Amino acid sequence: MSRNPLTLLGIETSCDETAAAVVRLRADGSGEILSNIVRAQLDLHAAYGGVVPEIAARAHVDLLDPAIRQAMAEAQIAFSDLDGVAATAGPGLIGGVIVGLTEAKAIALGCKKPFIAVNHLEAHALSPGLTDDVRPPYLLLLVSGGHTQLIVVNDFGSYTRLGTTLDDALGEAFDKAAKLLGLGYPGGPEVERWAARGKPVISLPRPMLGRKELHFSLAGLKTALRQEATSRAPLGEQDIADLCASFQDAVADVVRDRVKRAMDLFGEMCLSVDPASDRAPLTLVAAGGVAANARLRKALSEVATERGFRLVVPPPTLCTDNAAMIAWAGAQRLARGLTDGMGTPARARWPLDPHAPPALGAGVKA
Ligand code: KG4
Ligand code: ZN
Repeated sequence: MSRNPLTLLGIETSCDETAAAVVRLRADGSGEILSNIVRAQLDLHAAYGGVVPEIAARAHVDLLDPAIRQAMAEAQIAFSDLDGVAATAGPGLIGGVIVGLTEAKAIALGCKKPFIAVNHLEAHALSPGLTDDVRPPYLLLLVSGGHTQLIVVNDFGSYTRLGTTLDDALGEAFDKAAKLLGLGYPGGPEVERWAARGKPVISLPRPMLGRKELHFSLAGLKTALRQEATSRAPLGEQDIADLCASFQDAVADVVRDRVKRAMDLFGEMCLSVDPASDRAPLTLVAAGGVAANARLRKALSEVATERGFRLVVPPPTLCTDNAAMIAWAGAQRLARGLTDGMGTPARARWPLDPHAPPALGAGVKA
């Protein structure tokens, strides 16, 4: 493990954020963000109610060079000052991943710097070390437009996936709910805004509640919402508000149930490794765009209090997709002598925990 400070350029293009950042891993193991540029493509995808892969890939081509230039300028360093160049190599939308990966390889080759291929999920998993100085082991709930995962971060490079979604990701479910109610994109903030004016009076299912295996399934909830909306059409403003409040409550109940079970399992795992581990509070980290939802955060903080856990929610700019987490994960790899060759492929799928039993469902992504 290197004890010298390492400064890395990170590149993220796996979904609809074009991002570049410069991050330093200091000699004492702490992190410093020298720049963190995110160019969202929301306006390009809004008309479609979701991310269109081909449009995203083309936009990355246009937006990435200026984002990198800005990241380097704000960090006030030259390419020759870098210790390495890291990029997301997957999982994600393959066209976008290829754009960022190829650019990172070209910079690394041109500047004769090490190249590091980063697993996007590992970057999310390690980001609490950068933002909140959280050290493993901890339990991570990652909920965004692309992922819904419960992961135990045992140590660097050692992850246990406890659960994933069998169909839609949580953010995707919010986006689809908003779309079917005629609200804007991205759907999460819209549903939350409307829910504030409604009451959770409409009965909706809580899929997977009480189930032993720790997966999520959200497609049935979306279908039930569609049926309720259709039966009330034409929808008045109060109907929309009540449907949003009811949907949000159902999601919060499901998350509370799944996380509670994950906490118990994580507690048992910690005890088996270290019988004294019940003396210090265990940590739950919630990351991803959906973690911004106040109703969900309330549910998480209630479960955390109930189970004696410390809840950490990194700031929104660092728990949604960004390149600072890619540079940070890259620095962690580089510090351990892990670099990658120019032949490293882009990967649409790349599970973080290769030993996780396969989750069989319609839309399992990782
Ligand atoms: O992490 P993120 O920014 O990136 C990607 O998944 O690419 O997450 C975006 C997702 C979207 O699905 C959005 O609807 C959801 O997070 N989201 C929310 C809220 N804010 C964003 N969902 C529920 N409530 C919110 N306040
Ligand atoms: Zn992500």
